[in-house]
Amino acid sequence: MTAQSLAEIARAMVAPGKGILAADESSPTIKKRFDSISTESNEQNRQRYREMLFTTEGMAEFISGVILYDETLRQSTSDGVPFAKYLSDLGVIPGIKVDAGAKALAGYPGEKITEGLDGLRERLKEYHGLGARFAKWRAVITIGSGIPTAFCLQANAHALARYAALCQEAGIVPIVEPEVLMDGGHTLARCEAVTADMLSRTFSELHRHRVDLTGMVLKPNMVISGSECSSQASVAEVAEATVRCLKAYVPSAVPGIAFLSGGQSAEDATAHLAAMNALGGLPWALTFSYGRALQAPALKAWGGQESGFAAGQAAFLKRARLNGLATLAKYRSEMEAA
Ligand code: 13P
Repeated sequence: MTAQSLAEIARAMVAPGKGILAADESSPTIKKRFDSISTESNEQNRQRYREMLFTTEGMAEFISGVILYDETLRQSTSDGVPFAKYLSDLGVIPGIKVDAGAKALAGYPGEKITEGLDGLRERLKEYHGLGARFAKWRAVITIGSGIPTAFCLQANAHALARYAALCQEAGIVPIVEPEVLMDGGHTLARCEAVTADMLSRTFSELHRHRVDLTGMVLKPNMVISGSECSSQASVAEVAEATVRCLKAYVPSAVPGIAFLSGGQSAEDATAHLAAMNALGGLPWALTFSYGRALQAPALKAWGGQESGFAAGQAAFLKRARLNGLATLAKYRSEMEAA
């Protein structure tokens, strides 16, 4: 596959009015989500929940791609259509989470390194055969007393770049996700400084690894106040700080930036995205690749019950539509009530 077609896929992932659904929760993570609605995490319930999301009528108008987990990529609709085929027939690009999770970084208490590079070339080949056209790798950076260290940032940036190079070799667009966690009492300014440092190292490693920036999508955190910080930045402050930071560190060759939601409420994540797009004059598309901020209301409405299936789909469609509008700066908070 040529660099041209990687760029085409990347551009389609961040097409105007659309964003990405992150439905790639690992088995331990989906168990946590199901625990919150007192639903057992077994294969059947996981299939049914993902089927509810993917078969939501009209979602393809707002969703360009879906990130799947290994198990989900191998599952099918109740009618026996593989999820990857079902989605591509709708014009929604199937993607796959390929990292093996963030593990404790030896020698660096409180910090993490993402695993999963061994055997990745072979796994990517198989995933491509199963229909995946993009992948995701998440690095996790924690802010705390004396952390993150430069070593942790550098080790994670290096792994992200090795992953991205392997993806492009396999004809798969890498979503490069360096997540600075919002947990903690830190200020917005501290989040901005750490995010800047991580983005700077990530793009330096991507260059060293000869990654084609036109054939990737960046998935960063927004620059926000720590969740336990006593002074919470406004929507306008978050939008301004995030765009300032991204403009300083993300080359314009990158076609698009698709944010993670990271524990923000569904409404905050949408409002922040809309405010950034309203600033205008951006060299890349700014969109969403939300997990919780797209799914939380749908998960609750479904409640693990067949009787909640339609309500779950309606809740998902609402978030998809409002976030789609946010990419066009057409979202207004009054629309939440409608
Ligand atoms: P959240 O939007 O819930 O942070 O999930 C996005 C994601 O894919 C994290 O890796």
